[in-house]
Order: sequence, then structure tokens, then C-alpha cells
Amino acid sequence: MLQDELKNLLTHTIAKLADMTDEATVRRYEFDILGRKGSFTLLSKRIGSIPAQDRRLVGQLVNSTKQELEKAFRSARHLLEAGSKAPYKQSLDVTLPGIRAAQGHLHLVTQAIHEIEKIFTPLGFSRMSYPELEWDHYAFESLNMPKDHPARDEWETFFISEKESGTYGRVVLTPHTSSGQVREMEKRAKRGQGVRMINIAKCYRRQIDISHLPMFHQFEGLAVDRIVTMRQLIGTIQHFVTHFFGKGRKARLRPYHFRFTEPSFEIDVTCGLCLGRSCAYCKDGWSEIGGAGMVHPHVLTAGGYDPDVFTGFAFGFGVERSYLMKNNVNIGDLRLLYANDIRFLEQF
Ligand code: PHE
Repeated sequence: MLQDELKNLLTHTIAKLADMTDEATVRRYEFDILGRKGSFTLLSKRIGSIPAQDRRLVGQLVNSTKQELEKAFRSARHLLEAGSKAPYKQSLDVTLPGIRAAQGHLHLVTQAIHEIEKIFTPLGFSRMSYPELEWDHYAFESLNMPKDHPARDEWETFFISEKESGTYGRVVLTPHTSSGQVREMEKRAKRGQGVRMINIAKCYRRQIDISHLPMFHQFEGLAVDRIVTMRQLIGTIQHFVTHFFGKGRKARLRPYHFRFTEPSFEIDVTCGLCLGRSCAYCKDGWSEIGGAGMVHPHVLTAGGYDPDVFTGFAFGFGVERSYLMKNNVNIGDLRLLYANDIRFLEQF
């Protein structure tokens, strides 16, 4: 077939060119192939005998073969002129090692999220997700923070809509993963089930400094059932601290006030940067990673549970903050995580 012959001619010519070491031989060979009676010229004349329906495709092959041949002769001549011996042998050295494509890895925060998920799975917490654009109702109101309540100030919220929309209020960017609490309770309470979920998601607040970012991640645990106790909450936190930070690290509960839990705490761990000695990041040797407490009866009611029958605990920690507190992670500024500097990211 003409097509095969054209292809063979090209491979054969290139292979022969590879052995030629002087310009005169190359020129003579070029004449034998591309000259008036050259092998390519003769082959190309056979296009006339190709059936009309194939002629266009074969014609294209004739043209491209011609171009390839001309290119091969041209570069063989140029290389020889420039003083190189046996040009093709050098330009096609198949014994050279290949170039390995660079392999990346998951971002540090994604790695941390996977690790956190794995720590909670054996305790029966399933990973859930909820909207990132949320109604005021789920972000605040149902969490026992009525409109204009001063407690809301702590959540330096980005409001997306100015107008109130019915009973659900304005639209906000989720300022904390607690927005998922009542959403999950509503689903489960209807079926008479308890809750055991972990929600790891993006959160947004108007803040930025060494330990705060306008976009960050939290992981929220929520357990609701007929009997859920403080001891279980403390045990769950302890389980996380041991597995995430290592055995030598301590956590402490510091009494605090959240409107959606009662009693409420903030959770600190011994600082992983200065190991408790105090540094620019932690100030006093302890670093706050989040809040926790027993679910407030008003929140249980908002979720559809009878607070005389059901109890619950909840905690919400910062992913980036926790990651920074890990042993051997010596990053003293949260903002580095999102600076997108590959030289920084490659180190982990
Ligand atoms: N949502 C709280 C925060 O963003 C943390 C928290 C979660 C506190 C659950 C108590 C219970 O600070």
C-alpha cells in the first residue's frame, strides 16, 4: 500500500541519515530520495492511482512525509556544517535517562483533614457536610444567638445578602462549623435517631493576623443521644489530642461562654512551637485550638429533640491551628499555609 511505503521510506531514510558523516554524501542521498527521479518523487506520483475517496487522506500523508524528509535532510546538513559527526546518532540518543515528571502532594491542610477524619471514624463519627453559604438561622439564631445579641460579635461575619429572607434571615458565609449542628439534628430527630457526626469545612471571618485567617477550616464533632455525658466529651477530646499531637502533649479545658453549649469550655494544648515555654505565637505556653461544651437545651429544641430526654456534646476546633501545634511542624504564622509558595509547601 502506498501509505505503508511512504512510512517505510521515512523511517528508512532517517535511519540511514544517522550513519552519514559528511555533507557530500547527505546531498547525494537527498537527490536519490527527493530528486526528480528520487524514490519519494516516484512514490508520490502514484497518488493518481489512488481511488478518489481516499485521495485526500493519502495526499495529506504524501505532503507531510515530504515535509518530514526535507526537515531531516535540512537538519542533517546543518549539523554537519556545524561540525558534528553522524548528526542523527547524537540528536536521538535513546540511552539518555528520561525526564521524570515532577510529582506533587496534597496540601498540608488537606493532609490534616484526612488525618482528623481518620481519628474520629473509629469512634463512630461520620463525616458530613453542609452549605458554605448559610442562613443566619443555622449560623446563629437556632444556636441560641438571637438577632442583635452581642455574642455574635465574636464571629466577625461576612454577610452576603442585605435583605432578610423570611424566617431564615440573611445569608452569611459560614462563620463556624457549628452551623451544621441544627441541620443534622433536624434530619435525625425526625427519624428518632441520635447524632454522631464530624463536619470538617471551610469557615470565614473578617480577621487576619499571625493566628487568624479570613478563610480557614474547622472540624466540629456533635453527639446527641439519650445519655451523652461530659466524661464522653472529655474522653473524645483526649482521644483526638493523643492521636493528633502525640502522647507527650497536654490539653486543658478552660471555662468559657458559648451561647449554644452549657457548660462551655475553650480547649488549649501545650504549644508545639515552644513546647510550653511561651513564644510569639502562643504567648503563655498554651495554644487555643477551639471550643466545646454540652449542647444547650434551646439548641436541642431547635433541632427537634426533647431536652428532657436527649443530651449532647459538641466541639469545634480549628484545622490550621491544630496543624501548627503538631510536633515537628515549625510554622509560626498561619498565613504561610495559604501564601501558595511552592518552596514552602514542598518541605512537608
Ligand atoms: N463554634 C465555636 C467557635 O467557632 C466552637 C464551638 C463548637 C464551641 C462547638 C462549642 C461547641 O468558636
